[in-house]
Amino acid sequence: MIGVDGGKPARAPSLDALGSCLRKSARIGLIASVALLNLSATDAKGPAQVDQARMLAADSNPGEWMSGGRTFDEQRFSPLKQINDGNVGQLGLAWYADIDTERGMESSPIVVDGVLYNVQPWNIVTAFDAKTGRKLWTYDPQVPLKYGRMACCDIVSRGLAAWKGKIYVAALDGRLIALDAKTGKPVWSTLTVDDTDRSYTITGAPRVYEGKVIIGNGGAEQGVRGYVSAYNAESGKMLWRFFTVPGEPAKGFENKAMEMAAKTWSGQWWKPGGGGTVWDAVAYDPALHLLYVGVGNGSPWAQKFRSPDGGDNLFLASIVALDLDTGQYVWHYQTTPGEQWDYTATQQMILADLTIGGKPRKVLMQAPKNGFFYVLDRKTGELLSAQKFSPINWATGVDMKTGRPIENPAVRYGEVPVLVSPGAGGAHNWNPMAYSPVTRLVYIPVSETYMAYAAATSYDLDKHQGLGTSFSGYDAERKKIAEYADAHTKGWLSAWNPVTQKEVWRVAYPLNGSGGTLATAGNLVFQGTISASMAAYRADNGKKLWEMPAQNVPVAAPITYMVDGEQYVAVNAGWGGGLAHVERSKYTSLFLGKPRLLVYKIGGKAKLPPMPAASRIVPELQAPPKVTGTPEQIAKGEKLYGANCVLCHGVAARGGVKDLRHMSSATHGEFLDIVLGGKRAVNGMASFADTISKDDAEAIHQYVIARANADWEDSGK
Ligand code: HEC
Repeated sequence: MIGVDGGKPARAPSLDALGSCLRKSARIGLIASVALLNLSATDAKGPAQVDQARMLAADSNPGEWMSGGRTFDEQRFSPLKQINDGNVGQLGLAWYADIDTERGMESSPIVVDGVLYNVQPWNIVTAFDAKTGRKLWTYDPQVPLKYGRMACCDIVSRGLAAWKGKIYVAALDGRLIALDAKTGKPVWSTLTVDDTDRSYTITGAPRVYEGKVIIGNGGAEQGVRGYVSAYNAESGKMLWRFFTVPGEPAKGFENKAMEMAAKTWSGQWWKPGGGGTVWDAVAYDPALHLLYVGVGNGSPWAQKFRSPDGGDNLFLASIVALDLDTGQYVWHYQTTPGEQWDYTATQQMILADLTIGGKPRKVLMQAPKNGFFYVLDRKTGELLSAQKFSPINWATGVDMKTGRPIENPAVRYGEVPVLVSPGAGGAHNWNPMAYSPVTRLVYIPVSETYMAYAAATSYDLDKHQGLGTSFSGYDAERKKIAEYADAHTKGWLSAWNPVTQKEVWRVAYPLNGSGGTLATAGNLVFQGTISASMAAYRADNGKKLWEMPAQNVPVAAPITYMVDGEQYVAVNAGWGGGLAHVERSKYTSLFLGKPRLLVYKIGGKAKLPPMPAASRIVPELQAPPKVTGTPEQIAKGEKLYGANCVLCHGVAARGGVKDLRHMSSATHGEFLDIVLGGKRAVNGMASFADTISKDDAEAIHQYVIARANADWEDSGK
C-alpha cells in the first residue's frame, strides 16, 4: 500500500508509486503497467476508465474511489492520510450540492479521475467536478412513478459502478443502464427483471468484475422469486442468472443447486415466489474467482404460508458463493434457517486476510440483520466464528459443530404477537460497515431493535399480497411489546474485533439510525449521526475528534478521495429509507434541512444556508377533523389500511413515512386526489386506483381520522 499524503496529484499514479509496485512482484508489476497504459489513454478515451487491472491496483492509486466499497474486497477503507487524527479538527466544508428529493439518500458516490458520480432517488445520476462541485451532467431514467408503491423501503438507490468509460445505474423499475461517462447519455439499457407483473424493484448498486455487471433486485415484501444476474459491460447482453430459491418443481430445476434447495421447502412456495432477493451486497475475490451474494428474506414473511411443513428454505438468509464466469453454485452458508423475521443476509460482506488461531485465513465477514457477526472461510464457506454484536433474543448462539443457530422456540410466532429481537430493521441493516487493516477492527453501525411478530389468519398464495403477518388485534399484548421496544431501542457505533469477536469500543447515540462508516489510514472513522451531523472518531480508541452539523442525517456511508494533492471526504446527507418509513414518529427530536451532497477538506470554508424555520420532521399533533364515518366504515377502513398502507404508514397509522394522523386540513381535503389520483406520486406515493375503490379510500380516510382522534384524546390536549 502506498500513501499519497505528500501532495501528489491523484489523477494519475506517480511513477514512484508504480515503480514500487513493479518492485513488489511481477504480477502486480504487470497490473501496474497495464494501469499506466489505461491512464495515459484516459484523455483520448474519456473519463471513468476503470478496468480489472486498475481495480486490482487500487491501493497504488488511492486518490480514486472507483467502486462501491472502493476495492473488490468491499472494506470501505482508504489508505489516504492527509486528513488524519492530528488535523481532522480543521475539517470544513469544501463544497455542497442540494439534492432535489424528499426521500432517502442511501448512496455512496464514486470518484474517478477527478469526477464524482452520484445517484439520488428515482435513480437520477449527476456528475460533478470533484474539486469544485461544478455540475457536469445529469441523467434521469424517468422511472414510472407507479414503482414508488412497489419499493417497501423508500425509492432509494445505493450507488453506481464505473467501467471502461461507462457509468452503470440500476433503476427502480428493473432496468440496468450504461451511461457514457463523459456526457451522461445512455449507451445501452436492458430490462433485468423477468416478470413485470411482480413487484421487482432495484435499489442496490451494480458492481463490475472482469467486465461483468452484477445486479440483483428487491421485492420480497410483495411476492417475488429472487435472483442475481451478470451482464456484459460492453453490450448489455445477459451472461447468466442464478435463482436463489427453487421454482415450481413440475417445470424442472435450472440446476443441481435448485434441486438441492427444493428439498428444504414444502407446499406451493413458488406461487408467492419464496423471496430471497439479492437487494444489496455482493463481493468478489479475484484470486478465487468467486462472487459472493447476500440473499434476503422469505416471501411471505410467515413461513407457515410459504412452506407449511417448515424446513430451512434454502437459500433464504444465506451467503452464496458462485463461479463468476458461469454463475454456478459453489458453496453457501445459511445464517437463519427457516427465516421468518425479515432477517436478510443482504448486508455488506467484507473480505480480509485475518490470523485466526495462529493461521492466516482468507475470510468473509458479515454482520447481517439477525445480530450475529459471522466470520467464514471464503474459499470453502466454513464457519470460523459467530458472536452476537447486539443484544438479541431469537437465538442464544451458533452451534459451531453444525453452524446452525440455537434458536429460541418462542420466536416462531403464531397469531398472538411475540416480542422478537432484533426487529425487521435488524441489528445492522444496509448502512455499510468498514474494516481497517491498520487497526484490524470492523466499524459497525449497530441498532438494538425489537418488534411484535404475529401471523395473519390467512394468506392468498395466488394474490401474494402482504407479509402473511398481522399488525392489528391483541391490543394489550402489542402495547406491552411496544413499551418494551421503546424503552430498549438504541443505536451505537461499534468497533468490533473480528478475531476475538469482541467489541473494542463504542460510541453511543441518542437513537438508532446513524449512518454507514468509512475507515482511513489517518486513524479515522467517519460516520453521519442521527443527530444530523458528520463526525470523525479515532479509529483505534473511538475518541471523537470532529463533528459538524449537516442539517440532515447522512445515513449513507462516506467516501474519501484526492484531487490535485488535496484529500476530500464526501457524504450524502438525506434521511430516509426503511427506518424513516416505519419508525418516523420516534424521531420527534429531528429537525432537518435539505438533503445534500456534502464534501469536506482541511480548511474548507463553504457554509450551508441557514436551516429553514419549519424543519421539524415529525410535526406537532394537531386537532384532527371530527369522526363522521360509521363504525362499520371505520372497521372496513382498518382492514383495507392493514392490507394496503401499513407497510409505509405504520402500525395503527402511527409513524410511517408520513404520519397520517398529522395530515393538515389541506391534505385531508386532497385525500382522494393523493390516494387515487396520484397527486404525490413523484414523492413515492403512487396511486392506488387499480386496487381500491373510492368507497374503500373513503373508509381508509375515516379509519385514519378515527385513529387521529383516539391519539389526540390520549395526548390530553
Ligand atoms: C410504498 C409506500 C407507500 C404505501 C404502501 C402507501 N403510501 Fe402513502 N405515502 C407514501 C409516501 C412516500 C408519502 C409521502 C409523499 C410526500 O412526501 O408528499 C405518502 C403520503 C401519503 C399521504 C399524504 C400525507 C401528508 O400528510 O402529506 C396520504 C394521504 C397517503 N400517503 C395515503 C396512503 C394510503 C391511504 C395508503 C394505502 C392505501 C398509502 N398511502 C400507502 C408512501 C406509501
